[in-house]
Amino acid sequence: MRETHLRPGQLILPLFVDETLNEPAPIPSLPGQFRYPCEGLGAVLDRVAAAGLGGVILFGIPESKDETGSGAWAENGVVQRALRSAAASHPEITLFADVCLCEYTSHGHCGLLEGETVDNDATLELLARTAVSQARAGADFVAPSDMMDGRVAEIRDALDEEGYLDTAILAYSAKYASGFYGPFRDAAGSAPSFGDRKSYQMDPCNVREAVREIVLDVDEGADMIMVKPALAYLDVIVEARDAVDVPVAAYNVSGEYAMVKAAAAAGFGNERVLGLEILTAIARAGADVILTYHALDAADWLTRSADRGSEE
Ligand code: PBG
Repeated sequence: MRETHLRPGQLILPLFVDETLNEPAPIPSLPGQFRYPCEGLGAVLDRVAAAGLGGVILFGIPESKDETGSGAWAENGVVQRALRSAAASHPEITLFADVCLCEYTSHGHCGLLEGETVDNDATLELLARTAVSQARAGADFVAPSDMMDGRVAEIRDALDEEGYLDTAILAYSAKYASGFYGPFRDAAGSAPSFGDRKSYQMDPCNVREAVREIVLDVDEGADMIMVKPALAYLDVIVEARDAVDVPVAAYNVSGEYAMVKAAAAAGFGNERVLGLEILTAIARAGADVILTYHALDAADWLTRSADRGSEE
């Protein structure tokens, strides 16, 4: 009678690689998650392969930042190094690379600044350059999370021109200006130094606009689209699933994970039950793929019992 089934293969684990590290360092705002050295993902990738996850998505923490975020497309950048090492050691794992400038810019915004405003069109070329360098380093998917308009088309053109015809694009299409990214910005050191991201990320009040963004990204060549965050936007996932026929991904973001961890630590809930119930709800709403910091735990919970998470 059960209608929704979670599988480890639909879960993708976000991983942070940090150029300054020689060994993994725990992330205080994301209990159970670590920053890893660029060439130090081996052990966690072994676990990802054994769990049968759908892949990993890499985020970089560079040693130094500048105005233009040049570390994002450096041939020897933090994510490029990690991709090369992971592709060589674990060719069976699908590698996603997040494409954005905010972890690499000194001001923490996702694009080039013109005064205190992000210059959408000038940013596109830099995002395309970043995506191409990630494809060259071994990314199977590039995943633009910047929310600039027109970046999917620009990235698709650049990839094709460089011969990366088979590198796919997962577009963060409906990414909201959300309070749920706090622990991530802590982990990646990517909080904007002034202002906010509301000129390029979406207003939480809007769902028709999300559908418009999603359809535009599919028209521009996205192979998969994403709704982010997930839990507070289940209605947007439903609309997304309805609007397009490409796979729909949802990002169970850092704040959603941290809330479950905090509730469990305070004794207000059971991490396994809450975690599986939330992931099941995201899948039930229509997400084919879920990016979640709980991916390894969930794979473990799912294989240990036939539990869908809503009991207890
Ligand atoms: C980069 C980016 C962010 C996240 C993924 N890519 C942060 C942001 O937009 O501030 C957030 C992921 C999470 O909270 O888990 N633009």
